[in-house]
Amino acid sequence: MAEKKGKKMMWDGRFDCGMAQSMIDLSFSLDFDKELLEEDIQGSLGHGKGLVESGVLTKTDYAKIRKGLLGILDDVHAGKNLWLPTDEDVHMAVERVLTDRIGDLGKKIHTGRSRNDQVSTDFKLYMRHRAVEIRALVVELQKNVLDVAKKNFGKIMPGYTHLQQAQPILFSHYMMSLFFALSRDVKRLDNFLDLHVELPLGSGAIAGSAFPYHRQLVAEELGFERPSANSIDAVSHRDMALEFLNDLAIIANTLSRYAEDFVIWSSSEFGYLTLSDAFSSGSSMMPQKKNPDSMELIRGKSGRMLGNYTAMFTLVKGAPLSYSRDLQEDKQPVFDSTHTAKVLLRVMSEAIASARWNFDRMEDRMLPALLATDLADILVEDGVPFRDAHRIVGSLVGEAAKLGEQFTDLSDEAWAAKGVPNPKDVKKRLTFAYSVSRRNIEGGTGANSVKNQFKKAEAILKKELKK
Ligand code: ARG
Repeated sequence: MAEKKGKKMMWDGRFDCGMAQSMIDLSFSLDFDKELLEEDIQGSLGHGKGLVESGVLTKTDYAKIRKGLLGILDDVHAGKNLWLPTDEDVHMAVERVLTDRIGDLGKKIHTGRSRNDQVSTDFKLYMRHRAVEIRALVVELQKNVLDVAKKNFGKIMPGYTHLQQAQPILFSHYMMSLFFALSRDVKRLDNFLDLHVELPLGSGAIAGSAFPYHRQLVAEELGFERPSANSIDAVSHRDMALEFLNDLAIIANTLSRYAEDFVIWSSSEFGYLTLSDAFSSGSSMMPQKKNPDSMELIRGKSGRMLGNYTAMFTLVKGAPLSYSRDLQEDKQPVFDSTHTAKVLLRVMSEAIASARWNFDRMEDRMLPALLATDLADILVEDGVPFRDAHRIVGSLVGEAAKLGEQFTDLSDEAWAAKGVPNPKDVKKRLTFAYSVSRRNIEGGTGANSVKNQFKKAEAILKKELKK
């Protein structure tokens, strides 16, 4: 038989010529999907066990294949480059190296398997493994957040709505808001891990493998609960990746909102926060600058993670069933969001733990207007109907604003003229500490409520660590 033109491929039995270079550039994925190497080898080891069980491989064959596969992994870990420019993707590359090393036996590992169910299996394993690692990083961040909240218990700061001073809050109350948001991020990952427990292997290309094969055994071998119920579903759907990217994008979004606050807080205008030098950068031109780049990058990268989620959705929405090569594009968004989520979590964790929180500055900045709601409440307690109380305080604040003063600076007479009974007594009660102390309702910023939040948080952490 005459040599065929172009690159020789593993699957080129029915082809007249090899692949054009441009097609290679378009379709080869080893450059990025080698990230699946560990899961690919793990998947093949599991698959091999299934083949032994069904009599396709002998135990001796399997032992040789196993040794070969683990050898590949060791070599790659040791920094050896085993790959050739003719290796199309990680799955073909592993099989090629295995066959080079152990001979024709290496070709048997693909019995009863298509790359469609192989890729789907590897990819699921990859996301399950990374979800566990990312979950641990979220929990680590929660621990740091709780720690900072506890250490600085009792400190007061202005709470904001519309980025305008709204009401006094405990700093710990603010920090605990991050803790509870993160606990939902952990739950989302737990749901994800609970849901995606089905093994694709055995599905073949689309119709299911024709070889007898103990799928339940392979499933358990690989940490899945059971075989997938439908082979078309198993090789086609990427809802697991969508969910993974969604969960990671939400984590990044959680971090991004706090990062934005921390950027604002670290400005000279606010000065509530001094990030450690280790999480800041200087300017190449302005020597005085110390910029909160860590927080800005968390904010920026969270945008890219949303982009990855959107890319995946766009990719799968019109892809016909079952497998189409479009699906090869599912990997990069997942790899990218995985790496990004990990680094964002590490940075946020370390930056929060090492930051200096400038409580004097926070107190300094607190405007009396933070107490306007409390004044209305006090008036209500003293028997003034709420609507009237609201109007009285509003007109006090308005009059003070016209004079360029704070409403608390207006004289007792002015307060009385607006309808405040016993201005002296009312003014005495009107303090930031009093405002906070009135809010021990569950979930409120009062000291007892916040202590209760610590308790809840500890119970949550305990549960999270048990899983
Ligand atoms: N590299 C491909 C992917 O990740 C492998 C699957 C190829 N399957 C096929 N039928 N051409 O999707």
